[in-house]
Amino acid sequence: MTVKYLDNALSHDIVNELIDIYNNADDYDTDTMKKLSGEDAMSVLKNVDAIDTDRINVIHYYKHKLPYYPHSDYHYIEKENIVLPLQVTNGENPYLIIFDQYYYEDACTWTGDMDIKFKINTGVNGRPYDFDIDNKTHKPVPNYLYRFLDWQPKDFWYGLSGEPYEFKPGSMMQFDSQRLHATSTLKCEEKLGLTIRYKI
Ligand SMILES: [Fe+2]
Repeated sequence: MTVKYLDNALSHDIVNELIDIYNNADDYDTDTMKKLSGEDAMSVLKNVDAIDTDRINVIHYYKHKLPYYPHSDYHYIEKENIVLPLQVTNGENPYLIIFDQYYYEDACTWTGDMDIKFKINTGVNGRPYDFDIDNKTHKPVPNYLYRFLDWQPKDFWYGLSGEPYEFKPGSMMQFDSQRLHATSTLKCEEKLGLTIRYKI
């Protein structure tokens, strides 16, 4: 599927309700981000036309202070990703870079020379190009994209192409879970979003 981007999928009231649920809950940390199960958010999302709550298999909040490594999210019956940006604190909106490349195995995160453990995704050393990803360009990442990705050396993104999508509170992005994606260089203190995976 192509990437679907809706500018105003969530009203201000819905965004604020979702943020309140996050702020009023206990959360837990992984090495690189704060996550929280989003079960309580389900009742709020039932009022959002763009979301089909019957298809939701996974839902969780995440709060990042650092950009997130390139990864895929595919697991078993989880075929489609939805990202709902909720809050950007002290700075410019970041971007989610959605690449044209796919990884058909179970979810994987490429962490370069960093050793990072994840609860669900497999974390591997190296760059996506050195793995069996589909639709590699065999070229350096284009400059228009690298200006969003300069938190890693340019060579780390070799073989990738794609588009940046603004992480704008209230918007919604929907894309194939097998597609690689990563966060842009952050020019804000932190960002809060809700991530959903639809079952087939
Ligand atoms: Fe993801």
